[in-house]
This record gives sequence, C-alpha cells and structure tokens, in this order.
Amino acid sequence: MTSDSRSEKVPAASPESVAEAHACAQDCSPRRSVLRGSAAVAAAGAGTLALSGCTQQLKDDASAAHHYDGADPTPVLKAAELPVGESTSVEVDGRTLLMHRVSEGEVVAFSNSCTHQGCAVAVGKREGQTTFACPCHGSHFDVETGKPYGGPARKPLMDFEASVDGEDIVVKL
Ligand code: FES
Repeated sequence: MTSDSRSEKVPAASPESVAEAHACAQDCSPRRSVLRGSAAVAAAGAGTLALSGCTQQLKDDASAAHHYDGADPTPVLKAAELPVGESTSVEVDGRTLLMHRVSEGEVVAFSNSCTHQGCAVAVGKREGQTTFACPCHGSHFDVETGKPYGGPARKPLMDFEASVDGEDIVVKL
C-alpha cells in the first residue's frame, strides 16, 4: 500500500480516539474516589468542567462508527490456539482484543472497551453461556456479534476485521 492510498483512508475510529474515550470514561466513572468536606466544594467547579467535557466525549463516542477500519494485517494468534466455539482475549500493540472463533474459517475480533462507559470487558459467563462481560455495570456482549444484551450498554463493541490465514489468525490494525 502506498502512503497516498493510506492517507486517503479515513478510519472509523483511531486508536487514539479509542484511548481518549477510554481515559475519559475512567474519569467519569462512578468508581472515582470521593472528595469530602471543603475539598469537595473546592473541587466542584473544576469537576463540573471536567464532567461536561466527558459528557461531550461520551456523546461523540456514542455516535461514532463501531468498526475499526485497520490497514495492517497483523498475526495475533495461532489458529490452533483458538478452537472453534472458543473465546479469548489477546494483547496486541497496546490494546486488548476480544476474539471468538465462529467456525473453522471465521473468526471475529472486538475492542474490549465497553460502549457504556469504557471499562475493560473480558471473557465471562452468563447463565452457562460464554459472553464478553463488563465488570462495572453488568453489560454483556454477544461473542459472535459484539451486540449488547443485559446491562446499560446500548452499542455493540467496536469490531476489527479478522480472518484465519493458514496457521495464523490475522487482525487488521
Ligand atoms: S462501563 Fe458500564 S456496563 Fe461497562
């Protein structure tokens, strides 16, 4: 791929924007430490400004496309490490991907950033079914589609283009 064609490509969401949304969500999290007494009063003005910025960031994130249009096919796992019907997470290039092997020739990959407030989603179980589960407010995401069910999340996880290429599982990053 030439640098010209790469510059024409407009990704649906950059790694930076995902990281910013995640950082903002961490700041907006109800699990932030609580200030007491006069410190809370003194911090209230600054907190209001910070939260209004977060609200805008979360709105922007909510309206963003949920497909990452990556350019570089990157081997992330050996195909043998993810049998059909299994799910796993993998760290690659500073991000965590949630992976599921749908069939011998089909694999899916998602960002682990929860579409509710950005907590780290992980492989879990719900009523005996494997799911991608968020520990913060209980959202679950379908391992094949990334669509939410249960919990407050309304948007699917951001998906990446993934494929089985010989002995490797490859994701476009
Ligand atoms: S951050 Fe709230 S359910 Fe994931």
